[in-house]
Amino acid sequence: MLTREIIQQIEESPISDSMTVVASLFPEKVVFSSSLGLEDQVITDVIFKNNIPVRIFTIDTGRLFNETYELLDKMIARYKKPIQVYFPEAGDVEEFVLAKGINSFYESVENRKGCCHIRKVKPLYRALTDAKVWITGLRAEQSANRKEMPMIEWDDSRQLYKFNPLINWRYDDVMDYIKEFNVPYNSLHDKGFLSIGCAPCTRAIEPGEDARAGRWWWEISQKECGLHQTKVK
Ligand code: ADX
Ligand code: SF4
Repeated sequence: MLTREIIQQIEESPISDSMTVVASLFPEKVVFSSSLGLEDQVITDVIFKNNIPVRIFTIDTGRLFNETYELLDKMIARYKKPIQVYFPEAGDVEEFVLAKGINSFYESVENRKGCCHIRKVKPLYRALTDAKVWITGLRAEQSANRKEMPMIEWDDSRQLYKFNPLINWRYDDVMDYIKEFNVPYNSLHDKGFLSIGCAPCTRAIEPGEDARAGRWWWEISQKECGLHQTKVK
């Protein structure tokens, strides 16, 4: 278990130091889930540039933008290190699509959550098997739910630490890092997209709109896919 002192040290250290400390405390048990979003690009750059022993994976829901796949290719060409891709179970998708329809997420919150569950949440559980630390690119600024999240905490339901090294970063901090180190990013960001998920469930936003307004925009209040919803102690 992490002591209060170590957690404090992690919270107060620069990002590369904090990830190095965590990786050394849990050898081969630290994983980072990247959606290839702006925040995730920063974390990937830090991990690869500093050779921090953290396994990086992304979940391909099967409905991503082509621009996201182009970015994945670009990352592997640039860093020459692996980003493991997890897919949903074929049987889950086939059964769901047969029962509900290929684009049924627009019809009800229940269908939308069902789709997110089989395409994202279940592959995430598979990717986290054996992990003791799960690194994410969550930031407090992104939503009310995320505002409450600490940098590091024990996730009882998944039996691991969830570590959000960028939790206190502002949007400008992320962009400054991306520009300073010339980190590749999704070309959709230059077309008005901010938070990017699956293609049918993401749209560009207008200036002044909420950061997550382009995600599941037809729903009034549901703005999470279930990856980060579990009540964490
Ligand atoms: S979501 O819950 O609304 O989809 P968001 O796009 O804000 O999440 O990303 C927040 C964090 O969730 C990312 O920094 C990443 O750690 C994780 N994440 C989201 N989507 C994926 C994905 N497709 N593959 C891997 N990790 C993901
Ligand atoms: Fe399905 Fe949309 Fe969720 Fe992607 S974001 S898993 S397409 S409901």
